[in-house]
Amino acid sequence: MNNLETHYGEIAPGKFYLKADLDTIETYLRDHFFLDPTEAVIHAEKPGEGNMNYVLRVRTNIRSFIVKQARPWVEKYPQIPAPVERNAVEARYFRLVEKSPALKSFSPQLLYEDVANNMLILSDLGQANDYSSIYREGNLEEAELKAIVSYLSALHRIHEPSYPRNGSMRTLNHEHIFQYPFDPQNGLDLDQIQPGLRDLAGAVQKNQPLKKRIEALGKIYLSQGDVLIHGDFYPGSWLQSSGGFKVIDPEFSFNGIAEFDVAVLVAHLMLAGQPDAHLNYILHHCQEQNQLEVSLIAGFCGTEILRRILGVAQLPLRWNLNELQQLVDQAVNCIMTGKIASTC
Ligand SMILES: Nc1ncnc2c1ncn2[C@@H]1O[C@H](COP(=O)(O)OP(=O)(O)O)[C@@H](O)[C@H]1O
Ligand SMILES: [Mg+2]
Repeated sequence: MNNLETHYGEIAPGKFYLKADLDTIETYLRDHFFLDPTEAVIHAEKPGEGNMNYVLRVRTNIRSFIVKQARPWVEKYPQIPAPVERNAVEARYFRLVEKSPALKSFSPQLLYEDVANNMLILSDLGQANDYSSIYREGNLEEAELKAIVSYLSALHRIHEPSYPRNGSMRTLNHEHIFQYPFDPQNGLDLDQIQPGLRDLAGAVQKNQPLKKRIEALGKIYLSQGDVLIHGDFYPGSWLQSSGGFKVIDPEFSFNGIAEFDVAVLVAHLMLAGQPDAHLNYILHHCQEQNQLEVSLIAGFCGTEILRRILGVAQLPLRWNLNELQQLVDQAVNCIMTGKIASTC
């Protein structure tokens, strides 16, 4: 037993702890009537990079599926606590999009939900990379841009008043997007990530008008909107599967404002150095389909760029310090002017 498992046993007594042990997995699945009588678990592996949860691909003698458990911490940074209700939110999202003909084919099917143990079982989309490679090289293809636009446009038409508020996940995200990176006392040693980054952060952290605007944007993020948003719509939540572009990991979803998803998307296209034409395509089509407020997109977009460069949730970016400085300047400009020029 490792330390985390022991800790889990203490804070969540009696709850199942998922790990890559075939007997443990098989017993759990059998107890939950998920396996056929003749089915045996033969393999378990990490399916790809994750952040917050413990995720396994499980193979049996007849099929494979994905098992995902939320624990009361961020799996990548176990010292950061995280609300386990995120698992049920994710299940709700998958159940909802399954009912939409326009969205259904983009996500895995929810095969099983175990609320008591904060576990989900999803259909396996196959060996598929996420889109994190675009931070280093390569551009999205036209078919992918089209899929992204039509996905968001259909998603942002969903009105589901009874959708969970997802309040504690929003509070967590709010802290990491709108507060922590701008706090000079946050204790993050950015020079460890890239020498010179700390000074870059210092200038941002001293910019009071900027911080005021970011605080106002944070309040808008926390307020309730009336369309379903994914809440974490970036390349780490997209999969390149043999069946095309897919969307996973909707644990930050809630009834919010469409501008937030579009802004995060545009921010990551910029962080990944995608062509201006890609950005313009996204902005043009998203706005056309769902009347959006550009100043909000610009504000959230700039804030997302800043938090990814200056906060905890770093990305495998290709940029040197000068280039990061340019991105930071563009992001600040976006926030302060409320406009997205061809590059922010
Ligand atoms: N349904 C699925 N089919 C295939 N691979 C998946 C599926 N769901 C997740 N994965 C893989 O597992 C990784 C982690 O899953 P994800 O849902 O993103 O977890 P986390 O919330 O920890 O980020 C993904 O990046 C992807 O590689
Ligand atoms: Mg993920």
